[in-house]
Amino acid sequence: MINIITIDGPSGVGKGTVSLKIAKHLGWHILDSGALYRILALVAERKQISIENVTELVKLATKLDIKFIPTDDLSELQIIYAGQNITSEIRSEIYGNIASQIAVKKEVRTALLARQRAFHISPGLVADGRDMGTVVFPEAKYKFFLTASCEERALRRYKQLINIGICVKLSEVAVEVARRDERDSTRSTAPLMAAHDAVTIDTTELPIEKVVKNILDIVVLN
Ligand code: C5P
Repeated sequence: MINIITIDGPSGVGKGTVSLKIAKHLGWHILDSGALYRILALVAERKQISIENVTELVKLATKLDIKFIPTDDLSELQIIYAGQNITSEIRSEIYGNIASQIAVKKEVRTALLARQRAFHISPGLVADGRDMGTVVFPEAKYKFFLTASCEERALRRYKQLINIGICVKLSEVAVEVARRDERDSTRSTAPLMAAHDAVTIDTTELPIEKVVKNILDIVVLN
């Protein structure tokens, strides 16, 4: 039985940073499932495939050539698609927004299931997203759901974008984050929600290191 930790939650809550630190600490693999939806958004745009063209999106989804490589200082996960580093490009809110429209399509989600599950290899996997604990890895032993106030999440996302050189306004990021959360939470297939057996952590007042410690304490003690 290979270990899995799932970390779900809304946009800007810090799932990516927390997951990266936990994966490195344990020496496990990492799956940034949001990146898969963002890459689909980018590639569809490059190939001029409409986001309504489910047949073509499904074809793309089944053959995504993707690798996740942490930076040396562990501050970020680099996203490599077909040998090309597309990290900064897909992080923009433009692709976040298109990704969430693509993510509504049931057929696309189903097509991505096998791709996501293929990341589940020894010695273990830390998977972050919206439906890791509910749909993709319901058998995971450790499930977490991170929350934070809307203001705090907008601020975290804003800082993340500024750090990677994307120029944005905090007020615009707040609107985008709220819009995406609304769409992600209300879709009929695999909506954003905590698994019934997930531990929920409100991170509004918690520094990243404390969130990581809280999760590792639970994982190590069990
Ligand atoms: O996590 P991230 O912001 O990169 O995700 C981008 C979008 O991809 C989300 O807003 C959501 O619509 C979609 N997504 C999803 N299921 C996941 C991960 C991401 O629907 N497991």
